[in-house]
Amino acid sequence: MSVMKDVKRVTTHVLQEMKNNGVKIAMLTAYDYSLARLVDAAGVDAILVGDSASNVMAGHETTLPITLDQMIYHASSVVRGCKRALIVVDLPFGTYQGNSKGALNSAIRIMKESGAHAVKLEGGSEVLDSVERILTAGIPVMGHLGLTPQSIYKFGTYVVRAREQEEAERLKRDAKLLEQAGCFALVLEKIPAKLAAEVAASVQIPVIGIGAGSGVDGQVLVLHDMLGINHEFKPRFLRRYAELHDTISDAVGRYVSDVRRVDFPNAEEQY
Ligand code: KIV
Repeated sequence: MSVMKDVKRVTTHVLQEMKNNGVKIAMLTAYDYSLARLVDAAGVDAILVGDSASNVMAGHETTLPITLDQMIYHASSVVRGCKRALIVVDLPFGTYQGNSKGALNSAIRIMKESGAHAVKLEGGSEVLDSVERILTAGIPVMGHLGLTPQSIYKFGTYVVRAREQEEAERLKRDAKLLEQAGCFALVLEKIPAKLAAEVAASVQIPVIGIGAGSGVDGQVLVLHDMLGINHEFKPRFLRRYAELHDTISDAVGRYVSDVRRVDFPNAEEQY
């Protein structure tokens, strides 16, 4: 993979080169220093400080409650843990919709206060003003179409999006609009694989899928899901690469038992 040889820091330009050369992009979420450090050292190309932090870190039911200050806290922790990956941060709900000046201010705060490299926001034509305004400040923007969790109360369900022709056509138009506006990449979430492949072939910029099949330019997963920390969440698109729920439960259970039996600490584990 000559395009990745000697890449010390992945940039938006590197991601574009990867698409141009047919090298698939591997992206994962991270929200804290320790796991970001591991994920970065293990070789992912990009890290998303997703607003899924609202679910997996804070235990909210949706992504809506997380605030800009909280996203900046997570993002700056991730930045301190990473040397190589491109770091993209979600603009949280309410910080960019219907107010492009507010969107620019939110994006500037993220870049200035966290040290991340790009922002992501959800939606197409309805957020175009915000996308364009953020781009005028030289801040790279990643789009996000398909299942956009900040609109969950509009959708009413987390089922696959754009199965119907009308929504699929709108999604294709939005992908083109975001590309023309200057987005450096797009995320497509939970849409039919055939449609996602069509979109990836119709735009020049990298298209990264989650639940969008293999015909796109890269994949992203929520770290806690792929590590099996959250073992109740089992959507069809998720591949589990570890079962940390069991590993951690077992370790904590053994620790509790060792403390009770005064087996821990032993003679070597004290001063
Ligand atoms: O917030 C997030 O983790 C995301 C991914 C699911 C793409 O937006």
